[in-house]
Amino acid sequence: MYLTLHFESGSKLLIIMDKKLELLQKKIAEAQLGGGAERIAKEHKKGKLTARERIHFLMDEGSFEEIGMFVTHRSSDFGMEKQKIPGDGVVTGYGTIDGRLVYVFAQDFTVFGGSLSETHAEKICKIMDLAMQNGAPLIGLNDSGGARIQEGVSSLGGYADIFYRNVRSSGVIPQISAIMGPCAGGAVYSPAMTDFTIMVEHSSYMFVTGPNVVKTVTNEEVTAEELGGAHSHATKSGVTHLTAANDIDCIAKIKRLLSYLPQNCEEKTAKLPYEPGDEFRDQLTGLIPESAQQPYDMREVIRGMVDEDSFFEIHEDWAENIVVGFARLAGRSIGVVGNQPMTLAGVLDVNSSRKGARFVRFCDSFNIPLLVLEDVPGFLPGTDQEWNGIISNGAKLLYAFSEATVPRVTVITRKAYGGAYDVMNSKHIGADMNFAWPTAEIAVMGAKGASEIIFRKEIKAADDPEAFLAQKEQEYQETFANPYRAAQRGFVDEVIHPRETRRKLIKAFAMLENKVARLPKKKHGNIPL
Ligand code: HXC
Repeated sequence: MYLTLHFESGSKLLIIMDKKLELLQKKIAEAQLGGGAERIAKEHKKGKLTARERIHFLMDEGSFEEIGMFVTHRSSDFGMEKQKIPGDGVVTGYGTIDGRLVYVFAQDFTVFGGSLSETHAEKICKIMDLAMQNGAPLIGLNDSGGARIQEGVSSLGGYADIFYRNVRSSGVIPQISAIMGPCAGGAVYSPAMTDFTIMVEHSSYMFVTGPNVVKTVTNEEVTAEELGGAHSHATKSGVTHLTAANDIDCIAKIKRLLSYLPQNCEEKTAKLPYEPGDEFRDQLTGLIPESAQQPYDMREVIRGMVDEDSFFEIHEDWAENIVVGFARLAGRSIGVVGNQPMTLAGVLDVNSSRKGARFVRFCDSFNIPLLVLEDVPGFLPGTDQEWNGIISNGAKLLYAFSEATVPRVTVITRKAYGGAYDVMNSKHIGADMNFAWPTAEIAVMGAKGASEIIFRKEIKAADDPEAFLAQKEQEYQETFANPYRAAQRGFVDEVIHPRETRRKLIKAFAMLENKVARLPKKKHGNIPL
């Protein structure tokens, strides 16, 4: 009797369980379909992947765990109570990339245009909180029509909740934003406050006000692509750090970027296996042209020093007179900042100072040592620069270097002139090691300009002013335009042969590996923003 009863109740339980599992399967399938097959097909037609497909390609296989799949919005205005789609337009969760824990959200344009409702924001905030609590990077895949129009202030509040967390997380965990569709209005400020933005060409755009508002207010005719497409932000505004040809390329670049970064501000970057070999690089020897006026590509210098194929440039097409990016030296991540003689002779201007400063501060926040390659004729003169604040913008770079406590090594390849000598990670502002190539020229200014100023009267009085100037120029060149004066004073630690630079750098960074430097106790500094 007892056995029979037990059997009967057991089979009843199994039936109930089967039904419950069926319902669960149905709900999962419903959530996974998002806005439906038709909308998914529409996205594919635009060349876009869906939120789930993006996550699939981003994360290690089988590692993604979704959180909040069944969340729906709470709105009952404008008929919204009849339109509830599980997940509410954003897929959130965690998993691994190359075995490292990351948190991710991917907005689903097929559900209400990926627009941000109160609950959609809550889902994002939940994983932001988890990422902070557990010290792992946050990756946001943005594809959204902005604030959920039917929700009004609840949606705006949701954005602010995200912004607040972006700022709290800044400098604690790396935050990466991919823009893989629309990102407009106030929504742009979340990516703007993360560490890196990457935009997909032709299918994404970012702007505070769209083409229609621009036309109404300024009478300018501009397309969305021109106004806020990947190309515009990569070349004109510098809002995006990287661009990608398509969604797959974007995901590959996110993974590559992540490989240089630590999990959080308490950790060092991972060291890849490295076998020391022949560290002399002959290709560096002939790189500097005979004439000081002739350009060369600083990227070649960088590639000549770092581990093979390890240089990953950031902001490649914006403010090209400075080159910044990540690389590896003997398997360890470093940040590289180099003046670029190919563009504007490598001069520092408003944008290059901002670009350099932002990168230096990122590296410093996340314990990534800095290598600085210097060939700088000074700051760019002119009304445009002065009126656009070269003083306060140049000061940003000076401030960023001065504040940085990570290991910092400089190599002066050619010019180190004027205030720019001080700014570009000189020993005076805390660089740990400063090397110079024999081609280095460290002076207040170029020999011609200097001679014209200090010998003005003598030049005027000379029988042959041109010959007199040439002679003085030569004297000035011999006296100051070399690295030995600076080396005598100890401002340069060593003058080195270019071919031994890599070996010197590997040793210097290894020597500095356990550097401990702290800033004076303060709430925070006041960088000239
Ligand atoms: C609710 C939205 C929506 C939104 C799009 N949809 N944006 N629903 N709130 N913000 C819905 C559409 O109604 C449509 O639903 C579906 O998503 C797809 O949109 P389409 O317009 O068909 O797509 P497409 O032609 O590709 O155009 C994309 C778009 C456009 C350019 C993004 O949808 C658009 O202009 N949306 C409004 C953008 C906007 O003004 N947002 C508010 C910005 S202000 P159906 O059911 O028809 O398929 C803001 C403030 C944030 O965000 C402030 C933070 C501080």
